[in-house]
Amino acid sequence: MGVKIKESAISDTEFERMQQFVYDYLAASVEGDEDGGRMRWYPWHSAEYRFNHIQNVIEIATTIADREGAAIDVVRVSALFHDISKLEANQEVHAEEGARVTREYLQTCDNLPQSFIDEVCQSVAEHSYQGPLSDTSLETQSLIEADILDKIGANGTVLILLRMGYESRTHTDAAEMVDRVLERGRNAKERVVSDTAESIAYQRLKRVKWFREWLESEVPAMSTDANIEFTPDPTKADAHTTHGDIDSNISVATGTDTDSTDTNTDTDTNPDTNNTNPVDTHISDR
Ligand SMILES: [Fe+2]
Repeated sequence: MGVKIKESAISDTEFERMQQFVYDYLAASVEGDEDGGRMRWYPWHSAEYRFNHIQNVIEIATTIADREGAAIDVVRVSALFHDISKLEANQEVHAEEGARVTREYLQTCDNLPQSFIDEVCQSVAEHSYQGPLSDTSLETQSLIEADILDKIGANGTVLILLRMGYESRTHTDAAEMVDRVLERGRNAKERVVSDTAESIAYQRLKRVKWFREWLESEVPAMSTDANIEFTPDPTKADAHTTHGDIDSNISVATGTDTDSTDTNTDTDTNPDTNNTNPVDTHISDR
């Protein structure tokens, strides 16, 4: 997305120092895990994965903050620290624990106003909040929206397919797994409140829908119903290869109207079948 930050009180050097601290902290949290630990072989229990997620969240959150008028430095620093305790603390308390570690670190930095530290720590502590986003500050909202958005779209699809490998699933389960990403995308679109986040959610949801269509058009034996175990049936295979069946198959699998979240379905077409992609245009020029 490449956001140009309008003005920043945090220098590039300071931010890089913070990034190094966060990465080192994550790496130290999983240092002894190769000897045991339930999650040790999942890639997302690694410092590399978590740090990559954090970088994505910084990018998305900064975009949202910039366009919605939130305090950019509060948002990007809280995005950087939001999951710092994710690998060492229980999921239920990782936000509060993260805020504690963040405060300890920020208090060692020169020239950071106490009000800035308080705001950053509040956003980190509240980033797991499950209630309406309108209950939170614009800065916390930007962070939560970015955290949600990183789990949908092309990246969300890659992660769930990667998980299939770790669960020894076959590729014919891919449609069901991609449907889960679609479902997650629809939920995300419902939950986010800012125009910028809604626009990003819309764009990402559309990408997953396209991927789902491409997948099914290339793999006739793909299971199309998440709830029914698939038995290959050569008489059905032809029907699945026709493009027109794809949306109705998705509807069956998820129990939802595929296009219920679209507002401008007529103009957003799969670039594979028609080279227009107004969603990408829409987001890139904002
Ligand atoms: Fe996160």
